[in-house]
Amino acid sequence: MQRLVDLLGQAKRIVAFTGAGVSTESGLPDYRGEKGVWKDVDPMAKATRDVLLGDPVGFWESFRELFLRWGDAQPNACHKALAKLEEMGLLQAVVTQNIDGLHQKAGSRHVYELHGHLRTVRCMHCERSFPIDYVKEQAGVPSCSCSPGQGSIRPDVVLFGDPIPVETFRAAEDAIAKADLIMVLGTSLAVAPACWLPLNKGKHARTVYVNLEPPRLVAHPRLPTFRPDLIIQGKVGEVMAQVMTDFRVIAI
Ligand code: APR
Repeated sequence: MQRLVDLLGQAKRIVAFTGAGVSTESGLPDYRGEKGVWKDVDPMAKATRDVLLGDPVGFWESFRELFLRWGDAQPNACHKALAKLEEMGLLQAVVTQNIDGLHQKAGSRHVYELHGHLRTVRCMHCERSFPIDYVKEQAGVPSCSCSPGQGSIRPDVVLFGDPIPVETFRAAEDAIAKADLIMVLGTSLAVAPACWLPLNKGKHARTVYVNLEPPRLVAHPRLPTFRPDLIIQGKVGEVMAQVMTDFRVIAI
């Protein structure tokens, strides 16, 4: 842990790259861990753009089941630590694969949501945006008034088969390239192209990987292998709470 405190003490431009593992201590499931969302569900059969368009009844049934029953999760020590590091002027951005909005709830202001968010849904015909409650309040396949009964609503999350919004990806890539410390927290690094972003770090930047298990990174043909300077196997909320306690002693 001291090594992480030292790395934080030397860093001036930190970027955090987070995955679902930073939200499990808030009571939300991850995807590939012990009780992950995809443990008994094949994402390719449930959470793709093709399923949304080809089987909207099945899509919305599982989408509501998988994502809209999360209730009122609250940020945990990891989310709060990253918001604190941003407030101290040390953390430039959080690049997250998460759609739960807990980084913003903890106070982080510079958050790049690579896979979208659960705050709104939109009409695929007229692009009108609706708060997420619009699909919670109506059962079945939601529609827009511009095309009643045609099931033209989709969530504002990046489904398998959707592209990541280019401007978000480029901004995240740029933040990571300029960082001197990349904190890769609570992610299996199993899903491209998001998982390759931490490989895009500057030559002298350091990387820390905090996770319960080793990464499942798919190698990139042209980017360097993922070789963190520090690997901590542990619960990221507990690790960050401890580190911040030690770090505040030297930082303030
Ligand atoms: N502390 C540290 N690590 C944890 C914790 C915790 N409290 N809880 C879970 N983990 C680890 C799990 O062991 C797992 O290795 O976090 C990792 C989460 O990995 P995934 O479940 O694969 O989630 P993520 O990496 O965010 O998935 C990326 O896949 O399905 C898509 O779009 C979805 O954004 C998601 C993407």
